[in-house]
Amino acid sequence: MAEGKRREDCRRNMQRGQGYGMNSIFHRISVRKYQNRDVEQEKIELMLKAAMAAPSACNQQPWEFYVVKDKAVIERLSEASPYAKCAKDAPVVFVPCFRSKGIAPEYFNIDMSAAVENLLLEADELGLGAVWMGISPDEGRMKAVQEVLDIPEDLHAFALVPCGYPAEERAQEDRYEESRVHYIMN
Ligand SMILES: Cc1cc2nc3c(=O)[nH]c(=O)nc-3n(C[C@H](O)[C@H](O)[C@H](O)COP(=O)(O)O)c2cc1C
Repeated sequence: MAEGKRREDCRRNMQRGQGYGMNSIFHRISVRKYQNRDVEQEKIELMLKAAMAAPSACNQQPWEFYVVKDKAVIERLSEASPYAKCAKDAPVVFVPCFRSKGIAPEYFNIDMSAAVENLLLEADELGLGAVWMGISPDEGRMKAVQEVLDIPEDLHAFALVPCGYPAEERAQEDRYEESRVHYIMN
């Protein structure tokens, strides 16, 4: 596709709620209630592919992903943070982790954030619902997850992302605030 046409299409897509592709950006919400229905393995793999498609500093890709479907383990994970209770009823919980070593360790948490956002967007794209539950940098929560999953010492839990078919629906809040945008022009 010619560059000019592509740009024109992108501009058209900027109109909120319209266009095609990446509509999940304007549709995704945190989903904390799930249907009693399993998530297909194919969808789990698409979510993992989306997460690993994220950008990272120096392309260091510091991530590893635990995918937890065991109900008893999920219940224990839901107790690893005071704000993770609703993970208990999810059919699957992703636990993105980061390695201890890399080219630019100061960017690990930032890299992981990009991966988690991709995970959430892909869930929405696939008709699923998910929520980001903060674990890192809280050392107590990181240790709790480490213990539940018996994660090796050179890996660190970054977040919990419970996921399932949504049992709640609401429109995404429009957070666009023009006053927060500062154009610098000739
Ligand atoms: C770094 C981070 C940590 C979060 N931790 C939690 C959490 O521990 N528990 C939870 O229920 N939601 C958590 N959230 C979800 C936020 O509460 C949610 O994104 C925010 O309220 C905006 O709502 P929305 O995602 O529906 O747009 C977290 C989100 C981020 C980005």
